[in-house]
Amino acid sequence: MNMKVKIAGVEFKNPVMTASGTFGSGAEYSEFVDLNQLGAVVTKGVANVPWAGNATPRIAEVHSGMMNAIGLQNPGIDVFCERDIPFLQQFDTKVIVNVCGHAPEEYLAVVERLAEEPIDMMEINISCPNVNANFLAFGQDPKHVEELTAQIKKVAKQPVIMKLTPNVTDIAEIARAAEAGGADAVSLINTLTGMKIDINRRTFALANKTGGVSGPCVKPVAVRMVYQAAQAVKIPIIGMGGIQNTEDALEFIMAGATAVSIGTANFTNPYATIEVIDGIQKYMEKNQIEDIHELIGCVK
Ligand SMILES: Cc1cc2nc3c(=O)[nH]c(=O)nc-3n(C[C@H](O)[C@H](O)[C@H](O)COP(=O)(O)O)c2cc1C
Repeated sequence: MNMKVKIAGVEFKNPVMTASGTFGSGAEYSEFVDLNQLGAVVTKGVANVPWAGNATPRIAEVHSGMMNAIGLQNPGIDVFCERDIPFLQQFDTKVIVNVCGHAPEEYLAVVERLAEEPIDMMEINISCPNVNANFLAFGQDPKHVEELTAQIKKVAKQPVIMKLTPNVTDIAEIARAAEAGGADAVSLINTLTGMKIDINRRTFALANKTGGVSGPCVKPVAVRMVYQAAQAVKIPIIGMGGIQNTEDALEFIMAGATAVSIGTANFTNPYATIEVIDGIQKYMEKNQIEDIHELIGCVK
């Protein structure tokens, strides 16, 4: 039975990854999860310099999910390269580094800095809705998506995944723009912009006013978008958004995702990734599926 998948020449032992920002750089979770079993660890977004993130409160619960406005707090690429990459190198898993920036130059500085590092791929976050800078509408404008992708591809030494925002009218158009810019893969969805009011304090639940919604409540939107992107492009898709269990992961795979990422579920069940890997294997055994590729995009 084969659970291995390949994306841009990189082979993953199974199609299950962590979702950026929900698993740190693996260290916190390594007490619970054998990182060697994961298809890949996708790290928290990192910028060229440290970012402090937004004011608190910056997370809130909603029915069947959560909202966050962390604001991409991170220690900057220098600390990341010294501390987090060597930690992850100890494990037999692939390492995908999520990259953020306020402007193309900032993304490019991180991408260039990663050139000589022993990482497998980069995931470029053009979709975080929490940072108040005009260019972050980048991920909502196909021209900007294509341009930034092309700029990054010129300097990147590792394959590039463009991570798409769901806060658009036509996800297929954005996926096609990333492909046209030379992206090796796309991942989706990032969080959906939402708002929650705290009726007792009579103000916004999040200091940032708005935040990104994630968890099971976004899953039907995410599956629909992964399907639409899969119909629109030839490059591989990494699907995510509300995956809690094996059944959820299989929906994304059948909709066209070559691999899946698990995010918010890690907060309530640190074993979620491992349970999904085991569950996919059991599903394949039970249904006599020899190769995971029989399932990828099998729903047309
Ligand atoms: C607390 C938190 C932090 C996140 N940080 C990042 C990030 O740094 N970069 C990024 O591309 N996505 C980030 N995301 C988005 C997730 O990677 C994922 O795309 C989204 O939450 C949907 O998946 P889920 O419902 O399984 O969490 C974050 C999500 C959460 C909940």
